[in-house]
Amino acid sequence: FLKSTKELPLLGKKVVVTAGPTRERIDPVRYISNFSSGKMGYAMAEAAVSLGADTVLISGPVDLPKPAGVEFIQVESAAEMLEAVLENFDNASMVIKSAAVADYRPKEQHTQKMKKKDGDSSIELERTTDILRTLGEQKKDQILVGFAAETNDAISYGMSKLTNKNLDYIIVNDVTDPNGGFGNDTNVVTLLTGMGNQYPFEAMEKKQLAKVLLETIVADERPISD
Ligand code: CTP
Ligand code: CA
Repeated sequence: FLKSTKELPLLGKKVVVTAGPTRERIDPVRYISNFSSGKMGYAMAEAAVSLGADTVLISGPVDLPKPAGVEFIQVESAAEMLEAVLENFDNASMVIKSAAVADYRPKEQHTQKMKKKDGDSSIELERTTDILRTLGEQKKDQILVGFAAETNDAISYGMSKLTNKNLDYIIVNDVTDPNGGFGNDTNVVTLLTGMGNQYPFEAMEKKQLAKVLLETIVADERPISD
């Protein structure tokens, strides 16, 4: 039988979650990436499903099973992630950007394996598009939730990202915390809201934390439109 809408506050709402790292190819055998495991993003997608959302999970390359009940879109690079997110943005109620998007990519992608040469020790890079900032510029009534992975001054960097990217919420993550960060099953975060509220959370399993975070966002003052 069906659960009530009180238990399923996201019933009928589309929630888009991005997760994992992106990979930016240098040549057919090499890439630039980061240590994101995808665990927090996958947990956020599972939490969205459990609250009744029509959940789209857009994932970079990770070593995790696909969560039950999501529409799954596999991507590799920041450019592919941008395209998939934009395709799903118009009718979304909420976008949760857990992915650790590479900030730079090689300016040139070599089609053949690069050979080492004496004296040739650098690759030219260019910036990737900031996906979340792009959404912040285009948003109508979508709720935008970002993550900030920081090693220092986490709250103040988080606040700047919340403002600069025009977000509704940001989940700030000190990746140097022994109970949190990349690859761990637990995480320690603070949720900052666009209205100026701060919700610090105890160290928790990522799966449990994701559920509590999403429930806190859903219960927060801003109504979530269809
Ligand atoms: N983000 C994004 N597109 C990018 C870079 C980041 O959508 N090209 C998103 C991430 O998914 C995350 C948020 O922006 O939700 C913050 O990412 P983070 O790496 O912490 O911040 P940056 O703005 O990239 O700043 P910096 O890495 O310099 O701290
Ligand atoms: Ca970054």
